[in-house]
Amino acid sequence: MKATLKTVTKNAMASRTSQLVVPLRNRRLNFDSKWDYAPAPEESKNYVIAPRHELFIAGKFARPHSGKYFPSINPATEEKLTEIAEGDRADVDKAVKAARAAYEKVWGRMPGRERGKYLYRVARIIQEKARELAVLETIDGGKPIKESRDVDLPLVAAHFFYHAGWADKLKYAFPGKNPRPLGVAGQIIPWNFPLLMAAWKIAPALACGNTVVLKPAETTSITALRLAQIFQEADLPAGVVNIVTGAGETGAALVNHPGVDKIAFTGSTEVGKRIAQALAGTGKKLTLELGGKAANILFEDAPIDQAIEGVIAGIYFNQGHVCCAGSRLFVQEGIYGTVIRKLRDRIGTLRVGNPLDKNTDIGAINSKPQLEKIRMLVQSGVDEGAHLTQSPCALPARGYWFPPTFLTGVTMANRVAQEEIFGPVLSVMTFRTPEEAFERANNIPYGLSAGIWTDKGSKIFKMASKVRAGVVWANTYNKFDPTSPFGGYKESGFGREGGLQGLGAYCHIG
Ligand code: NAI
Ligand code: MG
Repeated sequence: MKATLKTVTKNAMASRTSQLVVPLRNRRLNFDSKWDYAPAPEESKNYVIAPRHELFIAGKFARPHSGKYFPSINPATEEKLTEIAEGDRADVDKAVKAARAAYEKVWGRMPGRERGKYLYRVARIIQEKARELAVLETIDGGKPIKESRDVDLPLVAAHFFYHAGWADKLKYAFPGKNPRPLGVAGQIIPWNFPLLMAAWKIAPALACGNTVVLKPAETTSITALRLAQIFQEADLPAGVVNIVTGAGETGAALVNHPGVDKIAFTGSTEVGKRIAQALAGTGKKLTLELGGKAANILFEDAPIDQAIEGVIAGIYFNQGHVCCAGSRLFVQEGIYGTVIRKLRDRIGTLRVGNPLDKNTDIGAINSKPQLEKIRMLVQSGVDEGAHLTQSPCALPARGYWFPPTFLTGVTMANRVAQEEIFGPVLSVMTFRTPEEAFERANNIPYGLSAGIWTDKGSKIFKMASKVRAGVVWANTYNKFDPTSPFGGYKESGFGREGGLQGLGAYCHIG
């Protein structure tokens, strides 16, 4: 009996081993490491995505005037998730009229304390549905669940809570003044933080008594439309927020609509410039949050390991799809060799793959055109003489992927040192003195953000006052809070979002 039992156990072991052989070998090849985590995918089966998504106008979901729909795909698998309505000028016109009616009849007249109650209600429902929203954000946009769950969703709720608090206190926000709403705000947002950008724009507009027409990005509309359902659930009066989906033409129709009092745009500098031209002389208010090419400045006296972690998080997490991503690294010469060695070691451990896996650091690139742009710019860096270092990780066969990459031997004239890549690609350069560091950091058309890494408080203050960037982080990176204004200089745009300055952008203050 004993012998039989032993044989059985041995056979069972043998068959288990033979099943595991293939995946284990693949894993070794994939990650080029001797160990790996077991897969830990976030549960997503319970969240159903409707096959079709309509426009949200005057409190109801409605078919688009054109009758046309376009697909939204999962960039990690290239599978079609749903169809999104393509709004045109007629739809934009309906939405603006609904927003105007809601502004004049309801929202613009409502006491601030009542508006605040709706915003609190929305914030609480967002918290209740945070897990579902994070999963949808990850499936539709490609960002790791770690990011959507731990960064995006908490900040989305925080923005609604923060602005709910201001709704009945605007006269204290601007003492001695009489803040009044602007009217109808047209808001156009990008695909890198779909729900967070919606929150950044909608929450302050509503707190100040404005109504909204929002145009999400064409690759990531699903969570904005889920937010529309939350507005319905919160009984937000019809027309206070309207959502018209579509691509650039839909956005342009909103910009050019005469019934809009303000445009708030986040996206590329190219489109931002076009919007600024279109609005010149119209009297419409405008805030623009455009691209960036942030510098992380790493001094010899910095805690190097901590700095490397900050630099890594600042450019690789979220696939570098962050307008304030630290895409340039300036290293003081004395520590250059150490920093490069540590960077190379660390990017080798970053996990690229299934965005729904809780251990994934780098998810899918949001779209094929974005992947092509990243490839083209990295190739231009190599052609111009830069040296390429890439993680040896293998990438999934389907979907849009780019491995964590850094370029050394980059000069300030190279395209990779000047243009926004918007991918997991870092350009590394050196400096000797603080003066050289801020001159080089400032020598670009952008001025959105920067990071300073040093042990010396005096150096932090000096650099922060010299670096021309809207946000300067010291010994940390990419930290956000609704109380803190965010925005840029130069071609990174103008106006601020968040904090008092952000409120001021949605009021007449006089
Ligand atoms: P984009 O600027 O074309 O898209 C942003 C939003 O503007 C989308 O909702 C889009 O539908 C809308 N839009 C496009 N053309 C418009 C027009 N003529 N009038 C009004 N709205 C319009 O950006 P895209 O093409 O998705 O990305 C291109 C590059 O822009 C990226 O590679 C990246 O460098 C940069 N970008 C920067 C962002 C930021 O957060 N600052 C966000 C997204 C992209
Ligand atoms: Mg999509």
